[in-house]
Amino acid sequence: MWPENELTARLGIDVAIIQAPMAGANTPALSAAVSNGGGLGSLGFGTSSIEDASRQISEHTHASNRSLNANFFCHDEPQGIEDGSAEMRKQLQPWYDELNLGPVPEARAVFSTFGPGHVEMLQALQPKIVSFHFGLPEQGLFDAVRDTGAYILSSATTVSEARWLEARGVDAIIAQGLEAGGHRGTFQGADPSTQPGLFALLPQITSAVKVPVIAAGGIADGRTIAAALALGASAVQIGTAFLRCPEANVHPAHRKALAEARDDQTRTTKLFSGKPARGLRNKYMDTFEASEDLASPFPSQLALTVPLRKGVSEDEMGDVITLWSGQSAALSREMPAAELLNILVEETEDQLNRLANRRK
Ligand SMILES: Cc1cc2nc3c(=O)[nH]c(=O)nc-3n(C[C@H](O)[C@H](O)[C@H](O)COP(=O)(O)O)c2cc1C
Repeated sequence: MWPENELTARLGIDVAIIQAPMAGANTPALSAAVSNGGGLGSLGFGTSSIEDASRQISEHTHASNRSLNANFFCHDEPQGIEDGSAEMRKQLQPWYDELNLGPVPEARAVFSTFGPGHVEMLQALQPKIVSFHFGLPEQGLFDAVRDTGAYILSSATTVSEARWLEARGVDAIIAQGLEAGGHRGTFQGADPSTQPGLFALLPQITSAVKVPVIAAGGIADGRTIAAALALGASAVQIGTAFLRCPEANVHPAHRKALAEARDDQTRTTKLFSGKPARGLRNKYMDTFEASEDLASPFPSQLALTVPLRKGVSEDEMGDVITLWSGQSAALSREMPAAELLNILVEETEDQLNRLANRRK
């Protein structure tokens, strides 16, 4: 009953489970464990240098001879940073003063969008799958990625975005429901308050496009995987549930928050990076909630918020760092990735059998 379809064949996987790319939190140990287990391991390089990305791809390849999904951000480079960040810097100064951090630094783009250097790396290393977040790179770069032979994925948070991605030639679309942890892949400007949850978004996207659709957002156990498959997904992409694996690079304060998380504790916010992303609420988010629209354009807001961690003790770290999480953190379990993958597969099979045999 576990689906084998065009997508799983093209991804080269046995079970239709993708460990979500999670820039900063994913590691080659995590991606290799998932790929070796028959799922698809991913490495998100949105915040990495090209050298670091190359090193991580090589590490994955040493640890696993199975597919890898290399993931990149293709945001617009930020404009008008200086003017845009002045008011935000003013608001943050009292916190900087209290933490003895001196003046709030100038906002600046702390990493670059997908560009020709990334293409050269892909040409050299040829990962089988390449995925993008925040839309797609311009056509010339997209065509160059296609010429490497890569199967190409990108996230949609609305039906309109899914239609656009299909028209631009992606091979499969990730339907990212509002429940999802981390950054919204939104690239047509929809406000998160208008974006559908996965239960509404997934069937509408599968009806609107012909390419395979991958479900993401709030999926964390066999019930949620079976539900996504029933709604028309060809595979699922799971982020938050893999954050508690020892292979993930997650700060202890973040691990603790995930272990204690309840369903009503996350919110989307632009306050950390400048783009909406879902995380567990903390002191920083709550304090500056009313100033969210002052956030400097992505990713330059990070230059203002990352230094806060230098001023706090380990005990207070959870107050200031990003605690990215989807709405299903309470369903997540602390265990090695290979074990988690096996359990997810077993639970999904049980659910699918249970549904097939149900009499009423
Ligand atoms: C910590 C974290 C980091 C993320 N970073 C990325 C990323 O770099 N690229 C990407 O395409 N998606 C990223 N996402 C979003 C995931 O691809 C996916 O949409 C999301 O994790 C699904 O929801 P879930 O967390 O409830 O499983 C991230 C998610 C989390 C939790």
